[in-house]
Amino acid sequence: MSLQRGRAFADDTETLIDRSIFSDPTLYKQELGRVFARSWLFLAHESQFTKPGDFFTTYMGADPVIVSRQRDGSYRVLLNSCRHRGMRVCRYDSGNAKAFTCPYHGWSYGTDGSLTAVPDEEAAYGQALDHAGWGLAAVPRVESYKGLIFGTWDTDIPPLTDYLGDFTYFLDALLDADDQGVTSATGVHRWRMRGNWKLAAEQFAGDMYHAASTHLSALIAESPHTRGMRLPASGFQVSLRGGHGLGGFGPYPYWKLQGFTAEVEDWMGSFFERAAQRLGGARTTDSVLVHGTCFPNLSMLWNRWTMRVWHPKGPDGMEVYSWSLLPKSAPPAVRQALRFDYQRHFSASGTWEQDDSEQWNYSTNSNDGFVAARLPLHYGMGADRGPNKDFPEFPGTVDTIYSEMNQRDFYRRWSELMAVPHPAESPASPATAAPLSDNAAKAVIA
Ligand code: FES
Ligand SMILES: [Fe+2]
Repeated sequence: MSLQRGRAFADDTETLIDRSIFSDPTLYKQELGRVFARSWLFLAHESQFTKPGDFFTTYMGADPVIVSRQRDGSYRVLLNSCRHRGMRVCRYDSGNAKAFTCPYHGWSYGTDGSLTAVPDEEAAYGQALDHAGWGLAAVPRVESYKGLIFGTWDTDIPPLTDYLGDFTYFLDALLDADDQGVTSATGVHRWRMRGNWKLAAEQFAGDMYHAASTHLSALIAESPHTRGMRLPASGFQVSLRGGHGLGGFGPYPYWKLQGFTAEVEDWMGSFFERAAQRLGGARTTDSVLVHGTCFPNLSMLWNRWTMRVWHPKGPDGMEVYSWSLLPKSAPPAVRQALRFDYQRHFSASGTWEQDDSEQWNYSTNSNDGFVAARLPLHYGMGADRGPNKDFPEFPGTVDTIYSEMNQRDFYRRWSELMAVPHPAESPASPATAAPLSDNAAKAVIA
């Protein structure tokens, strides 16, 4: 099996996946430009910032960036790499700064990225260093959706709300369920693990099928009397334009099965009643939204109140940044209950998180074998089924729980992007970055 240029699929029906997309180092390098540099990428939640100078460091693809709050309340997103030798100018996770001073030779940048001071400049450079031309590279487009800050290096793709498209219908059930919205719990969990980032993103996009097997031991530990579970008969997978996908179940009061106190259960019940009045019942009380991925690498669990980004770290590694989001209107007891519930299941120490990460680790490792790499993977579940009519108000294409439609559509979107070389790729070696053209550099270095 050899990957046909720019396609994840190994067959014409697009139900088989070529395993090299999970391990090939050349494809990985191409992916950074063709997928990540051409998509809107989630950066941070606005509640992480309160005053000018507040910053948060993260990644866009493999590029480290600083999200920096400005005096006027806007955000600048700066490449966290000094223009002198490339050193990371800010090595903190978050904080407040008046300037970002590079630890290597001491070049100093304002919170807007401009080069403001150079040690011993007269002796070192005389008048020869043009400060205006040597600020930190700035992400040219930064936009927010209901508290979520995104950035893109691409000056040509549609605005963020168009990019999100109908995914906002479901995002609103998390971000805008009542008039106060959500806030991020203090601190962002970060951890590294083995595994190709796409395995995590595609699982969150559309894989309900794994739960009964992958999470069996955690399920038994939590509910010894049930000895695990079968998936409820009623549920859905939804595929949306742009490679976004999500899934969930028919209605049931999930918060009554999580060991919460009566106080917390009552509050959750009334929260969803209020949400139904605001947003209608389809995405609040008449269904339980569970898992989803906003293409390419932002995923979330509605019922565990978490969002996470799968940052690529080479073809066989990723770094996870995970947020616990909480309803602002919730009293302290509810916030604590939701935060602990997230932490027990889906933080670095979460039981379910560890279950999943083992699968991604060993899948990636096996996919790289000489023989294994030549055998395609089966992504055909539900390819011969019609739409699921049980959830008529949902936008997009709706299928049952037992469907890999979302994964197939995720890889269709990935293939569309991978089929077109990034202008900054060197023609001689697609994996090698060529210097940016003058125009591209102007767009990137604001
Ligand atoms: S690498 Fe930053 S000042 Fe030299
Ligand atoms: Fe899982």
